[in-house]
Amino acid sequence: MLTGKKIVLGVSGGIAAYKMANVASMLVKLHADVHVVMTENATHFITPETFETLTANRCYTNVFDRSMDIHVPHVTLGSTADAILIAPASADVLGKIAHGIADDMLTTTILPATCPVMLAPSMNVHMYENPIVQNNMNTLRTYGYEIIEADEGFLACRDIGKGKLPPEDVLVEYILRACAKEKDLTGKKVLVTAGATMEAIDPVRYITNHSTGKMGYAVARRAMLRGAEVTLVTGQTSLDAPMFVNVLQITSAKDMYEAVTAVADEQDIIIKSAAVADYRPITVADHKIKKKDGDMSISLERTDDILSYLGAHKKPGQFICGFSMETENLIENSKAKLEKKHVDMIAANNLNVAGAGFKTDTNVITLITKDSVRELPLQSKEDVADCILDEIIAKMKA
Ligand code: CTP
Repeated sequence: MLTGKKIVLGVSGGIAAYKMANVASMLVKLHADVHVVMTENATHFITPETFETLTANRCYTNVFDRSMDIHVPHVTLGSTADAILIAPASADVLGKIAHGIADDMLTTTILPATCPVMLAPSMNVHMYENPIVQNNMNTLRTYGYEIIEADEGFLACRDIGKGKLPPEDVLVEYILRACAKEKDLTGKKVLVTAGATMEAIDPVRYITNHSTGKMGYAVARRAMLRGAEVTLVTGQTSLDAPMFVNVLQITSAKDMYEAVTAVADEQDIIIKSAAVADYRPITVADHKIKKKDGDMSISLERTDDILSYLGAHKKPGQFICGFSMETENLIENSKAKLEKKHVDMIAANNLNVAGAGFKTDTNVITLITKDSVRELPLQSKEDVADCILDEIIAKMKA
């Protein structure tokens, strides 16, 4: 996801500096060109050689090192980076940058930077809460720098409180959001539904389906990375909520109907990948149903079809994409859904194709609109999500 991107990591003097080896490594695995700049103090916690080995690039610590391999490194690195992350950002570095002080390789690299610059402060809780430090963070925010709030927890100094550097995957997600994707959904509101609904039978049992939510979560994340303001209405899943997405947790089809219809009008794009129950028990027993001799049956009633409601109440310019899960007559059945539910596109899944459907990390989807049928190859659900968004953007422009 970071092929062709130059990422500068600024490491300042704090114990959390050791975590940045992992961040550098994760970025390299995403094919980024990673350059690390350290303060002199940071070299007490982790060595430049560690970063040089991981990134295959020179690690810079001194502006006046005459053996450096690029021209005017502090200007070149800062001004050619696609994103810069300073982590851990010490109180000293925050204060210097907030006041335009540029007296070492790290701080001088920041001033010429025109790309997104993120700072992840990490220090003792009382230092973190000190109004001087807080004021410096606020000053940096006013200049357009992004402050990544520290986590709370057990700190190296044995205090418990705010000051921990967030986990490495969180820091990487900030970088991905900053520069991984073209921001072709900036200014767009995107509503995504995901996962299975659960229809209660009694306090113990419920009716559900095999949906894991992976496809919808992938769509929500990719839309976020492309700059959209994303709301994700989700049934229960075992997945971590995507960062930078407004997550609304629901249980039943009725909950999903209420959550979706409450925000639908303001959305530019709605993508309904959730596997919504078509039927629910007519009555939900207050107490656990005890077994008796003989058979039993549960009377079911239809749930509201949320996608049909959205199709019938579509706002001008709004784009609605439904999903269809079929085991036979994929195109025919999906085209029928497209028309019946008055939506703009159906992303059709054929459950009988290897690598498609529930529980896999891959999917095989056919995108069906009123005038086109486009079969996508087997690919990761994240890449399928991008293809769905590409098609929506193209159709909205047409
Ligand atoms: N859907 C919905 N509300 C429901 C049922 C389905 O919004 N009560 C949406 C799903 O989120 C999906 C689309 O409708 O986007 C198609 O779902 P699918 O289960 O494939 O089709 P159904 O319309 O339920 O039709 P059938 O079960 O007959 O295939």
